[in-house]
Amino acid sequence: MTSPTFDLVIAANRLPVDKEVAEDGSIEWHRSPGGLVTAMESVMRGREAAWIGWSGDAGDPPEPFEENGMYLVPIGLSEDEVTNYYEGYSNDTLWPLYHDVIVPATFRRRWRSSYERLNQRFADAVSEVAAPGATVWLHDYQLQRVPSLLRAIRPDLRIGWFNHIPFPPVEIFMQLPGRETLLEGLLGADFLGFQVRADAANFREACRRLLRAPVKGDVVTAPDGRRVRAAAVPISIDVEELRELATSPETLQRAKEIRAEMGDPEVLLLGVDRLDYTKGIRHRLKAYGELLADGRLDPRKTRLVQIATPSRERLQAYRVLRGQIEQAVGRINGDHADFGDTPVVYMRRSFPKEEMAAIYAAADVALVTPLRDGMNLVAKEFVTCARDDAALVLSEFAGAAGELKRAYLCNPHDVDRLKQTITAAIDAPADERRKRMRSMRRAVLANDVHHWAEAFLASLQAAPELPAEESAR
Ligand code: ADP
Ligand code: G6P
Repeated sequence: MTSPTFDLVIAANRLPVDKEVAEDGSIEWHRSPGGLVTAMESVMRGREAAWIGWSGDAGDPPEPFEENGMYLVPIGLSEDEVTNYYEGYSNDTLWPLYHDVIVPATFRRRWRSSYERLNQRFADAVSEVAAPGATVWLHDYQLQRVPSLLRAIRPDLRIGWFNHIPFPPVEIFMQLPGRETLLEGLLGADFLGFQVRADAANFREACRRLLRAPVKGDVVTAPDGRRVRAAAVPISIDVEELRELATSPETLQRAKEIRAEMGDPEVLLLGVDRLDYTKGIRHRLKAYGELLADGRLDPRKTRLVQIATPSRERLQAYRVLRGQIEQAVGRINGDHADFGDTPVVYMRRSFPKEEMAAIYAAADVALVTPLRDGMNLVAKEFVTCARDDAALVLSEFAGAAGELKRAYLCNPHDVDRLKQTITAAIDAPADERRKRMRSMRRAVLANDVHHWAEAFLASLQAAPELPAEESAR
């Protein structure tokens, strides 16, 4: 049977839904984790398009199926490919390397060949469903070879790629064995989008230094002579939808209940993250523990709710991190808890959107303190859902800091300053917090996820003739 073809094709390592086999053997599909899916799910709703991606488990892929009007094409990964392409090269080589080597990157030759094979499989699958002259939107670090592999078989396509994570400075990128092949892979695209200007500049500099490619403004001349634009298009969230949810009577009522269930604390601090070492959860807990020990925060009147979605659990660095976090939570509660008073409420699971909106609306101060993050959508979600006098403590190392300039900005590596920033946010007069929140809301509203998608697609259509609409961030 021949497959239907589409004028718009999305490819990301994951489908928007994740396959899970229930205890009775039946198949269930749940929303996939992470910011990529949060953003793209909103953007793609109602568009006629195909989405190519992995279903999240090893074995033969399920048949293509329709979901929310989209045609989903599952890519199969064998157990070996999960180990080598997904866990290995994508998440134990590229992920740490692109996040400032917070944990060391591991280099293994067999991971590279698996990555190449899988990228070819994605390119073939895209080619199968792309109509003549179709627009193809590729996503993230797992698919950096796809642009050139796809162009080789389908030169008629318009190919764009967006990087959801940081692109490292050339001095770090250079460590990667076979680094040129990734740059050449990306230069198969017509347009390359990055979260912030520094990422795009890092990519262009890597092309200049490592491929000796001519660079003029935001345009790189590829080895085959094509001109490829690399520019910033910062990602965002569906502000209108989330705001509506957050201000509904049910959500506001639930927010009240959440506070009440915790004994109506004076100060409710909040952390929401995938359980990932880039998120700075350990540093955050250290700062909070010390504030309690110093007597700056009262354990009877303060709660830190830390929500952590399980992630990449078979990788050593993630297992170690989980142990460290659970030990830190145990230590803080052991030192400071009392009957009815638990200073850290730690929940290692995912919540539905409605509950997330209520948790955001319940909090006084969100602690978004990644050591490195491409953007961080949690920061933007909090600003959209929070009370007018709530405060955001935000790491300078999150892409979002470029837009949310009135957050309480901090360097999470500096625990003393992190403590000061947290207390400054708690102690600030309500009026000051309101002013800051208003300004941050304006920033998020000015660039919501639909604006982001339009900007990306417009840049892709215009490439390379028109200059990039590089936002001033
Ligand atoms: P990343 O993509 O690295 O995970 P982001 O902050 O950009 O980080 O995006 C995370 C997304 O996942 C957000 O939309 C956030 O609401 C969602 N999320 C994070 N933790 C949870 C959780 N425990 N339950 C439900 N959604 C979550
Ligand atoms: C980040 C990455 C995504 C990834 C997500 C979840 O948001 O940018 O590409 O899908 O994390 O990680 P996982 O490894 O579970 O897909």
